[in-house]
Amino acid sequence: MKKVTAFIGTARKKQTYYAVQRFLSSLQSLGDVEYEIVALTDYRVETCRGCKTCFNKGEEFCPLKDDRDVLIGKMMTSDGVVFATPNYSYQVTAIMKTFLDRLGFVFHRPQFFGKTFTSIVNQGIYGGSKIVQYLDFVGMGLGFNVVKGSCVTALEPMSEKERQKIDSILAGHSRRFHAGLSQPQYPVPTLFKLWAFRATRTSIRMLDETYRDYRYYRDKGWFESGYFYPARLNVFKKAAGALFDYTALRSART
Ligand SMILES: Cc1cc2nc3c(=O)[nH]c(=O)nc-3n(C[C@H](O)[C@H](O)[C@H](O)COP(=O)(O)O)c2cc1C
Repeated sequence: MKKVTAFIGTARKKQTYYAVQRFLSSLQSLGDVEYEIVALTDYRVETCRGCKTCFNKGEEFCPLKDDRDVLIGKMMTSDGVVFATPNYSYQVTAIMKTFLDRLGFVFHRPQFFGKTFTSIVNQGIYGGSKIVQYLDFVGMGLGFNVVKGSCVTALEPMSEKERQKIDSILAGHSRRFHAGLSQPQYPVPTLFKLWAFRATRTSIRMLDETYRDYRYYRDKGWFESGYFYPARLNVFKKAAGALFDYTALRSART
């Protein structure tokens, strides 16, 4: 049984909530899935103060006392995670962005490997596809395996035709996500992911052990490894990785 948790960033239980419910019930009908819906507004999510204590010292030293770790715990115990938001002024909602900022340190020290991610964006007219791209990129940065998200358009009141279109998009999306849940959990990284790993670790290696990022990479063995997790890199990717290491080191030194 796969556990899927959907995090919704909206104060209303309307279109986005409806879309997530359709997605999840369609997903469940494909088999072996249980789910939980987490409305971010039901949790305390405080605004990041930008002190960077989480980056440098460690997330446990964050001065904010909110439900960040409860929410992270829900992601940790899930096989699949969905971030869903309405389009507000061509971006995610403020509550969703506040939540993402609370996860800022995870972009430095990704930890959701082996889990599948996707996004759902609900919009009135325009701009949602770029938000899907943004959220999918966020998912990748957090360490997830990403299944491309979907953007659905619904003006209120929604016509029957619009509803059918949305249902069909979400049914297709749920099939892709269901397939994603059964894909290998630790795939060979793409060239972009390999580059991101090598470039990040090169800059972290420039730090010293007073920094949490440095200690984290060192303790995980990431300064020596081919990628975040054991992956069979072919000759081409091994060569590309070496080149990425070399160019990252050169640009860090100049
Ligand atoms: C403050 C605000 C800003 C919005 N900005 C956009 C926008 O830039 N583009 C768009 O297509 N829809 C925009 N909308 C419309 C919502 O995305 C749309 O109504 C969505 O379905 C609302 O989802 P909900 O019912 O889950 O709240 C905006 C709505 C609000 C309240």
